[in-house]
Amino acid sequence: MKKYPYPHIRTELPGPRATKIIKTDEQFVSPSYTRGYPCVADQGKGMILIDIDNNEFLDFCAGIAVCSTGHCHPEIVATIKKQAGKLIHMSGTDFYYEVQANLAKKLNRLAPGSHGNRVFFTNSGAESIEAAIKLARYKTGRTRLIAYIGAFHGRTIGALSLTGSKVIQKEGFAPLLQGVTHIPYPHCYRCQFGKIYGRCKLECFQYLENILFQRTVPPTEVAAVFIEPIQGEGGYVVPPREYLIKLQKLAEKHEFLVVADEVQSGMGRTGKMFASEHFGFVPDIICTAKGIASGMPLGAIIAKKEIMDWPPGSHASTFGGNPIACAAALKTIELLENGLMDNAVAMGEHLLKKLNRLKRKYPVVGDVRGLGLMVGMEMVKDRKTKTPDPALRDRIVERAFYKGLIILGCGSNSIRFAPALIVDKDHIDCCIQILEEIIAEECSS
Ligand SMILES: Cc1ncc(COP(=O)(O)O)c(C=O)c1O
Repeated sequence: MKKYPYPHIRTELPGPRATKIIKTDEQFVSPSYTRGYPCVADQGKGMILIDIDNNEFLDFCAGIAVCSTGHCHPEIVATIKKQAGKLIHMSGTDFYYEVQANLAKKLNRLAPGSHGNRVFFTNSGAESIEAAIKLARYKTGRTRLIAYIGAFHGRTIGALSLTGSKVIQKEGFAPLLQGVTHIPYPHCYRCQFGKIYGRCKLECFQYLENILFQRTVPPTEVAAVFIEPIQGEGGYVVPPREYLIKLQKLAEKHEFLVVADEVQSGMGRTGKMFASEHFGFVPDIICTAKGIASGMPLGAIIAKKEIMDWPPGSHASTFGGNPIACAAALKTIELLENGLMDNAVAMGEHLLKKLNRLKRKYPVVGDVRGLGLMVGMEMVKDRKTKTPDPALRDRIVERAFYKGLIILGCGSNSIRFAPALIVDKDHIDCCIQILEEIIAEECSS
């Protein structure tokens, strides 16, 4: 077994200082958070997360796909410091400032399609979704919305109405938005229509056109379909290539909008600035957040100029487009364009190759899929029946932590790999070594 200089676990986990912090947290912090294991972060450096007891972890989660340039990238830190010394806040709602205008110009250029776009700034993914819901309704004058089973769009009331991930996220919060319909996501490994990709007629798409639009939802009342070009929290699911283009054509026919939720899949993670580009898909509105500013809270929606034509006062945000966050985003984009997106392609291939080797070796690995550094692995009871094994997934994620590897689950039984885009081959090989050790032990017990 190759020795790597990381991870380095020095204490029992949680260590003494971590135990103290967890106690305080349990006493005072909302119990609604879902901590799978006792990780008390103190410092981050690139791919390494150091906990409060000086234990060093290899981080394949990057703050849930947020720290795209790695923890505390020196150029990001310098940019934040410089901007903080100049202007911390002003509010783009009522004032102009250079970094916000420059970032909007940049995002306009980066969005797929023509470059006649406008940008609205938010503080989070959910807020970007809220802005998109409002814009879609405002622009079309229609109210109905369509989203996907398994989708995660956030937890504010509008975004939550579109979310179709877990019932616990919705239980007790009704009434949500009216007129939202969820349909099956195009998920070839677990086709809801019992088909096999290549031998199917894209029944998942036909369901929308031939069932939903014929029987329950008049397409003339639909404001927008919200879709994650790669479903994130739902299990890192990559749709079949042609699905998104067909959706775009259907939208043109019925004059509704297609909103791409690129909150998790965007900003270079898949090897292209936006995952939509892999499919030749040009959304009407793109929602982004997470990785856009390397960890500073920022979100944005990007829409064609003729769509984002709402008048002054119709939508705004005090903090959205904060100068420090915008400066960090401009630097993040520069780093992405100057090598990190290329690295995401190369390292994504390496990661997929290594995970596929695990799949061939261990029948509990049902499926491995992804684009760039947005990669998922489904754990199953056996490969033939594809029966999901969420308990095994949970054990692997937890045991990985105790061995010094930070990963998270997604979907009911998948593990997600969303490292920073600075990840190298050694990091990946080390991650795989730890995983294999755990999977081999699980399979032999
Ligand atoms: C695809 C997607 N949309 C929206 C959100 C919500 O983002 P936030 O937690 O910043 O509100 C998330 C968060 O995980 C997400 O993955």
